[in-house]
Order: sequence, then structure tokens, then C-alpha cells
Amino acid sequence: MNMVPSRFNTIVERKKVSSLKIGFFDSGLGGVTVLSEALRRLPNENFVYMADTLHVPYGTKTPQEVLGYVKASVQTILKEDIKALVIACNTATSIAVAELRKEYKFPIIGMEPAVKPAVEMNRANGKRVLVLATPLTLKQSGYAALVSRVDDHGSVDSLPLPELVQYCEQLNFDRTELFNYFNHKLSSFNLDVYGTVVLGCTHYPFYKEILRELLPSHIQLIDGSQGTVKRLKQVLSERNLLAAPLTTGQLQEGHVTFLCTSQDKAYVYKMERALEIYAEHEKIYL
Ligand code: DGL
Repeated sequence: MNMVPSRFNTIVERKKVSSLKIGFFDSGLGGVTVLSEALRRLPNENFVYMADTLHVPYGTKTPQEVLGYVKASVQTILKEDIKALVIACNTATSIAVAELRKEYKFPIIGMEPAVKPAVEMNRANGKRVLVLATPLTLKQSGYAALVSRVDDHGSVDSLPLPELVQYCEQLNFDRTELFNYFNHKLSSFNLDVYGTVVLGCTHYPFYKEILRELLPSHIQLIDGSQGTVKRLKQVLSERNLLAAPLTTGQLQEGHVTFLCTSQDKAYVYKMERALEIYAEHEKIYL
């Protein structure tokens, strides 16, 4: 087992760990939907968000490729001082979280499609659950194991939506195009039998508004960001790593640092814009 990089130990000695940043990682813009929740729930923290722009999308690649990309990106994010890492990507989590936890000692919070709460929400009404995620997430044995663990009635169906990641990467919110896309993808499903749709990819919550308009009104949408941030807060608190509240008059600047593997300034601007768009969207729909 590799130990925590010596650099991290040195940082631990030099600085008070709780004042370090929280790292967020995704293949692209999707993790912004989780970061937005973290900014709301953890207002005293500073964040560094890294997107693997050289290799997005992950969901259509092989597990070996994705494992290599995630490991390399995590090495890069460690050049920043971080006290914990959120893998704000269901696909990267399913492929790499176990390996990363073996390699590093700091807390690593991963994500998996919110199948368990979705099944529980529908236990009483007998409705089905539809999980939307990337092809790679849905192909993993971890996903099959999750479903068989929580779904004792065989009530879960899955649908891969790789194109939605591309729409999101282009910040494409064209209603007509997206309505056509979803209608086409959902055409073989009888939506009346579903009680919940799970957004099992962090890019997808950008399309909650469109999905709410398009799906029958009895269907609830859930994603993993609230659970993930709750877990992050709990882990930081257990390890005494939560940042101290700001003192009066102290201004918090540079709350989020955005980085990407292609070191592309235009993409950094796009991430900032995506966070604004999503935060605005959440304000309206919360
Ligand atoms: N945002 C990612 C997820 O949660 C993956 C998107 C992709 O790169 O295909 O699965």
C-alpha cells in the first residue's frame, strides 16, 4: 500500500489541517451540481474543483482507461492543499474509489446512484424506479450489487444517457432539442408505472427542470448530492476537520478554485458559469 504522499504529511505538520481546502473531482462540469450543495451546507469551507477536461466523458470509456485518468487527476489535485476529496462523479467512483482509498489516508467521499432511497420511497405505493446513469456506471458489478442489495421486488430499471453529458459539457439547454432527446430515449417506457427517477450521474441534475416538465407530475426526481454532502460534513466533523466559522468582518475570497487537466482558461470560465447557472436553478426549484 502506498502511504499518504509525504507532501501531505509535511502540509499536515505546517498548517492546521482544518483550514485546508476540500477537493472536488469530476470528469467535467457535472460535479458542480454537488459543489453547489456543498457551498450551501458548508459556508466556511474553501474548495478546489478539478475537471478532467482532457478525457471527459468517462461514461463511454473502458474501466482501465478511467482508472488511469482518475488516478492521474487525483495526483494533480494533491498539488493543492486538501483535507478531503469528494469524487463528485458516479462513474469515477464506481471504477476508482476502492483503489484511491487504499492509496490515500485522507477522507475520500464517493457517489453512487441513489437507488436505496428511491426504492424505499416507493415501497408502499408499488411504483417502479428508473435509474439514469452513464453506460459505464450501469455496467459495473458494483451497480448490480447495489441494486440486488436494496431492491427485493425487482422494481428497478436502468437507462444509460451518455449524450446528456455532452449536452451539459456544451452548456446546451435548448428546450426543443432536449425535449426531443428525452422523448426519444423514454419512448419505450410506460412512465405511469414509475414513482421515482434517479439522476445517477452528476451532470444530469442540470436537466431537472426540463425533466420535471416532461415527466408525469407524480414522478419524483432524486440525485445523490444531498446525501454526499451530508456524508462529507459528517466525516469532516468526526475527524475534527470542519473549518472554523469566519470571524465578523472577515471576507471569504476565492471560495472555489477551478482547475482542469487541459489548463484551459475558457473551460475554467465555463465551470464558473455552470455553477452560477445551477445555483440559480436550485434557488428557483428548492
Ligand atoms: N459526471 C459523471 C458521473 O457522475 C460522469 C460523466 C462522464 O464523464 O461520462 O457519472
